[in-house]
Amino acid sequence: MPKTQYNRTVYVDLPAKVNLFLHVCGRREDGYHLLESLVTFTEFGDRLSVRSADEFIFSAHGPFAKDLPSNPDSNLVLKAARTLKEEAAADTGAQIMLEKNIPVSAGIGGGSADAAGTLRSLAELWRLKVDIQGLVQMARAIGSDVPVCVHSIPAIIEGAGEKVTPQDPLPACGVVLVNAGDPVSTGSVFFARKGTYTRSFPWPEITSFDQLVFELALRRNDLSESSVKLSPLISDVLTTLSETRDCAYFQMSGSGGTCFGLYPSQQLAVEAARSISQSNPNWWCISTKFRTSCPGLRIE
Ligand code: C5P
Repeated sequence: MPKTQYNRTVYVDLPAKVNLFLHVCGRREDGYHLLESLVTFTEFGDRLSVRSADEFIFSAHGPFAKDLPSNPDSNLVLKAARTLKEEAAADTGAQIMLEKNIPVSAGIGGGSADAAGTLRSLAELWRLKVDIQGLVQMARAIGSDVPVCVHSIPAIIEGAGEKVTPQDPLPACGVVLVNAGDPVSTGSVFFARKGTYTRSFPWPEITSFDQLVFELALRRNDLSESSVKLSPLISDVLTTLSETRDCAYFQMSGSGGTCFGLYPSQQLAVEAARSISQSNPNWWCISTKFRTSCPGLRIE
């Protein structure tokens, strides 16, 4: 019997992640930093489809496909596929197609989202008996942000990303994401970071947009100083966001360089994104909103 016995295609959306705040609370003996971060996911993101094949065949298209690493060992989709195959002792491969809409090395979890979606969709394609906790376990070995991307719901992450505590959906608001085009290496940003550690303090239940903004203003992104040193354009992006009409909060996500602005309505976010794009035509800028649930798998 051929190994490609299941003639199915599994499709999944891969939301971009936004770190609404990110505190560096300490450092482990292996050098990894201990974090506390509120992570949310957007309607905007990459898209992935997988179908049966004897070997792994990977292809990518979309605006940022050209920026993916050419070395297959650095490709997080293939890393996830191989990890799952090994862990599940699967004896087949897959044709994996990625629509790369999220900028690469941009602090909004593109690679992690792709890896998480690969785990979820291949587990379905291969009809593996592995639950979400099993996938999260495998996700840890692929990258710090991959476990929370398997959940793709608002969550506080702690440790080096391995502790994920789900949160209620955030109040509806408009979101703008802006990136000036400099790729930023996460490892270099952590390496360049100086200063003390932030003491962890609890994130409350959020019931309104105003309260969300109030609580975020008490927190920060502890990586922004070192990211701005490595990529000074990030500070121009933050200033530009701050000057848009009705921007209630702005900050850098993850290790940068993407920054986000929050607006009381979707319409205000659309207008802000339009004005930023007009005055900075070379920047990547979109308006979106936060997802309230994890995207489901579609099977054909
Ligand atoms: O896990 P990920 O591949 O995203 O991390 C890239 C690099 O960032 C790591 O090799 C490490 O140097 C640094 N890092 C860290 N602490 C974290 C996450 C990442 O020091 N919690």
